Amino acid sequence: MRAPDIRLEEVSHLYQPAGVRALDDVTLQVGGGERLVLIGQNGSGKTTLVRHLNGLLRPTRGRVLLDGQPTAGRTVAQLAATVGLVFQDPDRQIFAGSVEAEVAFGPRNLGLRGRELRVAVGEALALVGLEGQARTNPYDLGESRRKLLALASVLAMQTPVLVLDEPTTGQDRSGAEIVRETLAAVAAEGRTVIAISHDMEFAAESFQRVVTLRAGRVLLDGSPSAVFAERAWEALDSSYLEPPVASRVGARLGLGSTPTAAMVIEALRDAPQ
Ligand SMILES: Nc1ncnc2c1ncn2[C@@H]1O[C@H](COP(=O)(O)OP(=O)(O)O)[C@@H](O)[C@H]1O
Ligand SMILES: [Mg+2]
Repeated sequence: MRAPDIRLEEVSHLYQPAGVRALDDVTLQVGGGERLVLIGQNGSGKTTLVRHLNGLLRPTRGRVLLDGQPTAGRTVAQLAATVGLVFQDPDRQIFAGSVEAEVAFGPRNLGLRGRELRVAVGEALALVGLEGQARTNPYDLGESRRKLLALASVLAMQTPVLVLDEPTTGQDRSGAEIVRETLAAVAAEGRTVIAISHDMEFAAESFQRVVTLRAGRVLLDGSPSAVFAERAWEALDSSYLEPPVASRVGARLGLGSTPTAAMVIEALRDAPQ
């Protein structure tokens, strides 16, 4: 499964009728297999941006291309085979009466049947630790597990691009760990992972590229060590973002912006008392 290159070309999106400019001339290229996290304060346009990737929203101006092909001519159903989008609110995604039926819906729509379908569903449920809950009604699961179910239902479609809107928000500790492990497994297969997050630790640790949005525009775009470096703190602050604790500690200890725990412990051991 080769993940396509994604390109947004001068994309603006205005919500009608009020004409709210949610995206303002965004140009962004994401190579196949990249792990990218979008950060930015509420209302900065993150959800609007990712909804352009599977055609749920269309640009008011500009274009979105997958491997050079404009998405304009393709329906959401067609794009769904390539770009899987996990909503922030699982209750806007979940509709089936059982966990199993929920997860089977997407791959069945893509044409999977019989054993192939069962394997896709079983693998997705196992990845998020819900394999024992196949017959459970989704509404009997807690919030954290409903979010994992929403993730599994997209995983089961085995799309080359996986997009997640705030996957760790509202997650308990074990759920957040499952999300991190799942994203690592998906990325290891060469698939593209694009997530929105408010969790700076998660952003710094699980992604190779951080894109910051402010008022519908790209403010910063680089590796976690560049975006969270001290020289970028003013820009982060201007969009009400704080660098991860590790970046602040790293800067103070002269270890750069993405020190590992081992580096910090070492530096503190060597520091004069
Ligand atoms: N359906 C909508 N109708 C009108 N305005 C919207 C709609 N959805 C989002 N917006 C506005 O678009 C801007 C960007 O929103 P959004 O993409 O949801 O930001 P984020 O995900 O970063 O919080 C905000 O000003 C928001 O109020
Ligand atoms: Mg949002």
